[in-house]
Amino acid sequence: MTPAAFMRDIWQRKPLLIRQAVPGIVPPVSAESLLELADRDEVESRLVTHFRNRWKLEHGPFAADNLPSRKTRQWTLLVQGVNLHNNAAAELLAQFRFVPDARLDDLMISYATDGGGVGPHFDSYDVFLLQVSGRRRWRISSQTALELIPGLPLKILADFSAEQEWVLEPGDMLYLPPQYAHDGIAEGECMTCSIGFRAPAYRELAGHFLAWLSETVEDNEALSGRYSDAGQNATEHPAQMPADLVRAVSTRLKAMRWSEADVSEFLGAHLSEPKPTVEFREPSSISLRKFEKLARIHGIVLAPASIALYDRNHFFLNGEAYEPPAELAKWLRKLADRRSLSAADVAASANLPDLMETFHHWLEEGWLLLAPAAL
Ligand code: SIN
Ligand code: CO
Repeated sequence: MTPAAFMRDIWQRKPLLIRQAVPGIVPPVSAESLLELADRDEVESRLVTHFRNRWKLEHGPFAADNLPSRKTRQWTLLVQGVNLHNNAAAELLAQFRFVPDARLDDLMISYATDGGGVGPHFDSYDVFLLQVSGRRRWRISSQTALELIPGLPLKILADFSAEQEWVLEPGDMLYLPPQYAHDGIAEGECMTCSIGFRAPAYRELAGHFLAWLSETVEDNEALSGRYSDAGQNATEHPAQMPADLVRAVSTRLKAMRWSEADVSEFLGAHLSEPKPTVEFREPSSISLRKFEKLARIHGIVLAPASIALYDRNHFFLNGEAYEPPAELAKWLRKLADRRSLSAADVAASANLPDLMETFHHWLEEGWLLLAPAAL
């Protein structure tokens, strides 16, 4: 199935099992390296155990001796954002860039021992569940009853009734749209990659947007100044809210205006913001002159954790919005779409005003690297 057909007929609409979606798959990390990643402070990880029929959830980091033995049944280690720390995982994720980056969350890898899983649940995410080693039995259901068992440390459906089930082998992949009930249970030791795409909730975006809008005060005449109440009468009811205060604030709030371009700028900055746990590697400091020389020879790449987006007028990198002139925008867009610029691209663009200085600044932030990116 082509990406075009998948997006047209399946995406957000229905589940799809694809046998051998990635034939001959090599796990991007070994189980040992995944367990090591879970011991790092900057890596988000969770341990789910289901011993003696009781669900338990713990958050990492996990030193090796804090994890159950690999011989013990029924536990799962989930490591978020493996693409941020591992080149092979980042390359695997790049195969899913037929979906816009603005929708991407991350690539999570789970390691489970026999019988391990996180219980029947649903996610608010579109997810591709790619089996990378061992076997896992997936059971799924289109049920609309999504009540959860109260009082548990994880979200487990109170009433799960499977309609379809398959055992996935390495290379097999299951796509699930948001809110689709599912339960995956390891058959022997296994590893599964979840390539997840967040569907932002309007309510959550609205909160962030209004905060963003109120911070861009210069553009918002309605919010300038401060309430004044010259002429307020001496009151006998000091606790009562002054009607004038409510009226004045209400008038100003109603006068707030924004355009679709403002919304686009907000979304670009918001959706390119790295997660709070992300740390960029401290780059070795080199002069602008030396950077330019090396970039002309090797080209440049975005750091694996960098998020780059653009719209008609802006380029966004890790939460920062830039408004580059057209001749620069062309190269920044190419950098964002390909996540790299070749040596030839750098040579062709190096003389444009400010571009090399900007790249050098990003290099110093750890947002951009000289190619090839050695992690
Ligand atoms: C897992 O990999 O065990 C859980 C993934 C999921 O169900 O979302
Ligand atoms: Co899930």
